[in-house]
Amino acid sequence: MAKYLIEGGNKLSGRVAISGNKNAALPCLAACLLTSQEVVLHNIPQILDVVSSLDILKELGAQVDFQGNTARINCKAIKHHDLPESLANKLRASLLFVGPLLARFGKVEFPHPGGCVIGKRGIDLHLSGFQQLGYTTHENNFAYKITRNRVVPSEVHIFLDIATVTGTENLILASVIRDGKTVIRNAAQEPHVVDLCRMLTLMGAKIYGIGTSTLTIEGVKELSGTEFTISPDHIEFGTYAIAAGLTGGEVELVGCQTVDSDPVIWPMMKMGLSITPQDESIKVTGKKFTAISPKLVTGVWPGFPTDLMSAMIVLSTQAKGVSLLHDWIFESRMFFVDKLITMGANITIADPHRVIVSGPSRLQGKKLESPDLRAGMALVLAALVAEGQSVIDRAELIERGYEDVVVKLASLGAKIQRIDN
Ligand code: EPU
Repeated sequence: MAKYLIEGGNKLSGRVAISGNKNAALPCLAACLLTSQEVVLHNIPQILDVVSSLDILKELGAQVDFQGNTARINCKAIKHHDLPESLANKLRASLLFVGPLLARFGKVEFPHPGGCVIGKRGIDLHLSGFQQLGYTTHENNFAYKITRNRVVPSEVHIFLDIATVTGTENLILASVIRDGKTVIRNAAQEPHVVDLCRMLTLMGAKIYGIGTSTLTIEGVKELSGTEFTISPDHIEFGTYAIAAGLTGGEVELVGCQTVDSDPVIWPMMKMGLSITPQDESIKVTGKKFTAISPKLVTGVWPGFPTDLMSAMIVLSTQAKGVSLLHDWIFESRMFFVDKLITMGANITIADPHRVIVSGPSRLQGKKLESPDLRAGMALVLAALVAEGQSVIDRAELIERGYEDVVVKLASLGAKIQRIDN
């Protein structure tokens, strides 16, 4: 395990490049299984979750070449249809290989996926969607077996009672090659779902309603290879915007002009951060906080993303006033705030989904452990404004989703160092 040593108190300034969207890269990598031709994906971030997904592809028999931020994948010679437990346990997105394996081979066995422990994270909506698409599902002690029925329905209407992101993606992946039409209502509309649909369309899939909550998919016989560029990561964009705001710095975020930033930046702008598009970047200036966002509730896109909630809690500790922050999506998202409290933050945990933050608080550097990806990054942000030194252990959890975090923060003037334990 590695740790970060951070000496707080430096204003961040300069330019930083925003990487490709992790949660788009992962389903797009899984989508490579849908064709026997080569797929070239650009702007794939060098992060641990990508490495784990590529390991799954290799284990299944794919040829993988990953250099810089470009991955070349060929799934012509797939040997296995089952997901190995040791790899599937590493990330929730291992689940995204199920849809393509079903579409291509009609059967799959897999263990319950791993990933960040931020709540119950069931897979019932994935399974019931597969059943509606004409598959039989068996579960035994958190191991799943799915097989295609003899008769498959030609027209399927799936209503998701939660707009699940990977659930929507999995059902799209299972539907694009099929003899029939699939309609998914209350589909997730996150930018990563849109990226996946765009890539599949380039491969020859017929998907209508992209970016809306109703997707209609007319199955085709086969898909071809393609070349596709992953969009910039709106969560990384929001994280560095918060870092600039928190430290009172001025940072230009480069390569992210195409990010749909409205859902991400509105609460930050309400708090006084200046966020302005430039020719080749988006500039964030955090000179002073003018207000606190009195209430912030996460939502499905275009709502405020749950993956930025932990960072927003840290930002709120530095603003003046009282704020209620509410994440109804995950039951354990808020549990990391006890660590901020030990640093000196004034936070009351109202219930598993809501915290009340009173600011501003002086934070003190502490020795802490990263509990999950987003909470770990939030602790890094807190350490950047804390007095004295902080040590953030289990830094690999942060590196699952943030590319070159130490290099990027150091280039902006943060005193941060990575040490292997
Ligand atoms: N849910 C169910 N049953 C299901 C599926 C979901 O009850 O079958 C519930 C979940 O327990 C949760 C809610 O529905 O309460 C929403 O979960 P969702 O399925 O949308 O989450 P996910 O697909 O597992 C993706 C991202 C997460 C992000 C969420 C919400 C990927 C690989 N992961 O997870 O990203 O928080 O959507 O936007 O796309 C992260 O990047 O740090 C991360 C956790």
